[in-house]
This record gives sequence, C-alpha cells and structure tokens, in this order.
Amino acid sequence: MLKRIGSVLIILFFVFAAIGIVMAADKGNARKGKYLFRKNCRTCHCEDGSAKPLSPIDKTQAQWDEVFKSIDKLSCTKEWAKLSEKDRNDMYAHLWGHAFDSPSPAKCK
Ligand code: HEC
Repeated sequence: MLKRIGSVLIILFFVFAAIGIVMAADKGNARKGKYLFRKNCRTCHCEDGSAKPLSPIDKTQAQWDEVFKSIDKLSCTKEWAKLSEKDRNDMYAHLWGHAFDSPSPAKCK
C-alpha cells in the first residue's frame, strides 16, 4: 500500500514538473528577448541614441508591467508594432526578469 502511494507521488511530481516547463515557455524566452531588445530598441535607447538609454534595471517589475500595458501611449509605438506578440512576450521575459527589483537586475552594455 505504501509503495503504491509512493509511486503515485512520483508520477504526480513529474506531471507538475511538466506543467511547470510548459508554463515557463508560455511566459516568453528571456534569452531571445535580450537579443530582440538589443536589436530593436537599443538602437535608439542607448548612450548615443535619439532616446534616453534604457536597460532592464532602469525600471521595477511593476513599471515594466505598466510599459507593456500601455505600449500604444509611448512615443515609439511604431517601433513596437514591428514586433510580433511572441517577440514582445520574449522581450517582456527579459526586461521583467532583470528589472531593478528582480533577483538579477541587469544593465545593457
Ligand atoms: C526610433 C527610435 C526608437 C526605437 C527603435 C524605440 N524607441 Fe522607445 N522611445 C523613443 C523616443 C524618442 C521616446 C520618448 C523620449 C524618451 O523616452 O527618450 C521613447 C520612449 C520609450 C519609453 C518611455 C520612456 C520611459 O523611460 O519609460 C519606453 C518604455 C520605450 N521607449 C521602450 C522602447 C522599447 C522596449 C523599444 C523596442 C521595442 C523601443 N522603445 C524602441 C524612441 C525609440
């Protein structure tokens, strides 16, 4: 009987692990997001660019949430329009994951 409970628990563990991996994938790929941010945003948002420099660390997670909720109010809405929903998700994963109050804040070089 105990053995049986043990195997059920092990199976449950793997089911939840699999769900976790699927959900993480849904949140966006931060590595790809970093590339997309550099390629599409840092052209302007860098030290010598036409807009003020922007790195993940320049905003808190709540502030990045705010940015992604009001993309159509930014001065560069047109630039964002070039990105697909999936690309934006990937970028969000990067920016949010390295925000000022995240466990690993990051500044773009
Ligand atoms: C063609 C140049 C250009 C590109 C490319 C561009 N932006 Fe902007 N962005 C601007 C300008 C100009 C402003 C308004 C002035 C400022 O903030 O410097 C602005 C404003 C913003 C703001 C609001 C200001 C702030 O600090 O909260 C955010 C956030 C932002 N951009 C994020 C992005 C992201 C993310 C991308 C990539 C998808 C991007 N921008 C691409 C020019 C650009």
